[in-house]
Amino acid sequence: LFSGPVTFLKSAPALKFLPDPDVPEIAFAGRSNVGKSSLLNALVGRKAIARTSVTPGRTQELNFFEVGEPLLFRLVDMPGYGFAKAPPKVVETWRRLVRDYLRGRVVLKRTLVLIDSRHGVKPVDAEMMEMLDQAAVGYRLVLTKADKIKASELEAVHAATLAEARKHSAAYPEVLVTSSEKGMGIDELRAAVLSDSLL
Ligand code: GTP
Ligand code: MG
Repeated sequence: LFSGPVTFLKSAPALKFLPDPDVPEIAFAGRSNVGKSSLLNALVGRKAIARTSVTPGRTQELNFFEVGEPLLFRLVDMPGYGFAKAPPKVVETWRRLVRDYLRGRVVLKRTLVLIDSRHGVKPVDAEMMEMLDQAAVGYRLVLTKADKIKASELEAVHAATLAEARKHSAAYPEVLVTSSEKGMGIDELRAAVLSDSLL
């Protein structure tokens, strides 16, 4: 579905290092360790183009990946939020970078807000969603790590997350269920990202 190559373009530790806003972008947001980098890898069918880790706080900059030749769109892997163990100053720097990017990026077509299937929407997620609502930045809620819980639990968290999405003005009124590990929901997400990139 994503025809052509995927290449790493650059890491931006601050807004002034962003690439020129000349192609559509889709961003990956979510709590530390929710599986942003893993989902990006699964989506483009590469094992480790984005770096993942069992230790939260792996992704510390905005990482831009280019899809297609000729270039179709960029995927943006972002630092996680809600990571209590990082030094407060570092957390604040990440938070500001992510917030400023999300609020101000004209080519940003959609943000994927990832939610851990085991935990559902947490207060920090709701905070992120409210910020996006206020900035009128459209986002999709995507459940991750679906392989980690039972089908019955997954159904319940899916229903609860869907109900949450429908309370928010900028949230897409559907929730995709994924597992990067098992490949679940990846084709559906790919189709969604492709259509979002054309917005
Ligand atoms: P930060 O960059 O620290 O914010 O984390 P992240 O959201 O990018 O998470 P990352 O992709 O690095 O994954 C965190 C951990 O979760 C890694 O150990 C992954 O292997 C694991 N993980 C990610 N997705 C899945 C999944 O679908 N299933 C399972 N079982 N584990 C997963
Ligand atoms: Mg990461």
